[in-house]
Amino acid sequence: MNEKKKFYITTPIYYPSAKLHIGNTYTTVAADALARFKRLCGYDVMLLTGTDEHGQKIQRKAEEKGVTPKEYVDEIVAGIKDLWKMMNISYDKFIRTTDDYHVKAVQKIVEKLYEQGDIYKDAYEGLYCTPCESFWTETQLVDGKCPDCGRPVEKTKEEAYFFKMSKYADKLIEYIENHPEFIQPESRKNEMLNNFLKPGLQDLCISRTSFNWGIPVTFDKKHVVYVWIDALSNYITALGYGSENDERYKKYWPCDVHLIGKDILRFHTIYWPIMLMALGLELPKQVFGHGWLLVDGGKMSKSKGNVVDPVVLVNEFGTDPVRYYLLHEIPFGADGLFNNEIFIKRINSDLANDLGNLVSRTVAMIEKYFQGIIPAPTDKEALDNELIELAIETPKNVEKHMDALKIPEALDDVWELVRRSNKYIDETTPWILAKEEDKKARLGTVLYNLVESLRIVSTLLSAFLPETSEKINDQLNVELTTWNSIAAFDGTRAGSKVKKGEAIFPRIDVDAKLELLNKIREDQLKASAKAAIQPIKEEITIEDFDKIDLRVVKVIECEAVKKSNKLLKLKVELGGEERQVISGISKYYKPEELVGKYVVLVANLKPAKLRGELSQGMILAAATDDDSKLFTVSIPGELPTGSQVR
Ligand code: MSP
Repeated sequence: MNEKKKFYITTPIYYPSAKLHIGNTYTTVAADALARFKRLCGYDVMLLTGTDEHGQKIQRKAEEKGVTPKEYVDEIVAGIKDLWKMMNISYDKFIRTTDDYHVKAVQKIVEKLYEQGDIYKDAYEGLYCTPCESFWTETQLVDGKCPDCGRPVEKTKEEAYFFKMSKYADKLIEYIENHPEFIQPESRKNEMLNNFLKPGLQDLCISRTSFNWGIPVTFDKKHVVYVWIDALSNYITALGYGSENDERYKKYWPCDVHLIGKDILRFHTIYWPIMLMALGLELPKQVFGHGWLLVDGGKMSKSKGNVVDPVVLVNEFGTDPVRYYLLHEIPFGADGLFNNEIFIKRINSDLANDLGNLVSRTVAMIEKYFQGIIPAPTDKEALDNELIELAIETPKNVEKHMDALKIPEALDDVWELVRRSNKYIDETTPWILAKEEDKKARLGTVLYNLVESLRIVSTLLSAFLPETSEKINDQLNVELTTWNSIAAFDGTRAGSKVKKGEAIFPRIDVDAKLELLNKIREDQLKASAKAAIQPIKEEITIEDFDKIDLRVVKVIECEAVKKSNKLLKLKVELGGEERQVISGISKYYKPEELVGKYVVLVANLKPAKLRGELSQGMILAAATDDDSKLFTVSIPGELPTGSQVR
């Protein structure tokens, strides 16, 4: 028996910490297109996705909401599953790192590494970025902040277990150098080798004790496993590795492609292969780090209010236009841009004009000239050959591009055939053929060729735009949609009946929709700003307010308070007198940045001692709720110090 070849592809497992945006959606849609395509080509495919549910960040969010971490993640995970349904993601398995089988398998993995001496106990003292769940050394920071996300890091000190990464570093360097296809695109390989591996790999801290929302380390219960060790293991635990039934593991591992964003390449091309080497397992064949999906103004972020919500787009335009944009407009491996206007224009030009019109014209002509019955191709001409040759070439071109993960180019191949078919209508002018009775056979051949070309198009599109593909099949009554059937140009059955349906992509009024999208975005911004702000405190009278004496002061000296990583000691001038103020803002300002600034002081606040230092008043500052950003309230010009702020 001829066994099917297997293809195992994974997406990252998502943090259920916030709503997923169009950038996260991109990874999963791309993985889905690759998986669907391989299925079409006859592979036995395994597409894995899921959620990465442990860690300090989740625990904190749950605490803020006053629910248990599990309750918190359950709700978000349900939303993520709904999103994948909406995006038509054909995953074969959805793993949650809170699933029992995963927890047990991770515990076994950590035990094995401990027993064989790859894990040892020590104390961890260093810097941690909670949003990214990453450890950093002082030298790796950029401007004192996390080099990945630019947010402040926290100092932590705790007892911890370490993984002897360094033991495997040389072996990994050798592996990467001998397997040029392992890290893709190529440019990212050099970044990993030169920035991380070659300068020397530090041992990795793989357990935490300062919080407990994680997988307990079985041999030392106060420790939980570091989230990345927990998360990366999903790629094998989801297949049953470490459980009683590891049939799927035996069948699908090693993975063919781990598809991820470039920001998490380090974890996948250094930690993960080293874990696998230590476990004596094969390495994945390829890790592909795709670029970022940017919006006007750069990276999407909640604070900038430029996050694009895939649900809004799907509700307004349908699933396939969003899939088309993601798969076609973002050069695979490089950064791409999401822009509402380009998005809508692409729907009109590529989907409505090129593809939609081809389908509706073809169906309409068969209805008009042949009562809806697909005619047989009995009168071929040399003119047809160019179309036929391209139609036969197209599946091969698509396959070549998909194998190289060049999804936009693969879609271009399909559109080349769509456009060639439209041109074929112009060349053969069926409406003129229809006027002459003796051209009926020729007219029938032209229409047959158009249906056949569309059958090839729709079969290929089943990987990219599955709903559209079905709609085309419905209208043209396409029966044969197998890979083998599109290697030749004869799969349409003459005599079957077409069914005219609605336009598969109605044209969109660009201005009206743009206005609508802007309005939705503004409403969302307002709603999230409203939801995010702290409740306004109890009302006070003007007399109450008058009790607070706010004054303009000038900072004349500033230094860090010894043994404190939070406090600054400021000397300020107030109407010719000097005062000392202690302020918890050293995370946001270097002392020299404050000297010379005019800031606002609560001048009649009762003096207090902070870390043994006297503080005569309080400097006003505005900060985000999570304290990731802070600015002192300063006076944008010179005023005599002591001036009142009212
Ligand atoms: N939980 C980890 C992955 C663990 S995998 C063992 C994680 N999760 S995430 O939810 O933060 O990100 C998931 C994926 O979305 C990552 O591949 C990330 O690169 C991708 N993206 C997040 N923002 C993106 C864009 N703006 N554009 C493209 N991809 C982006 O990391």
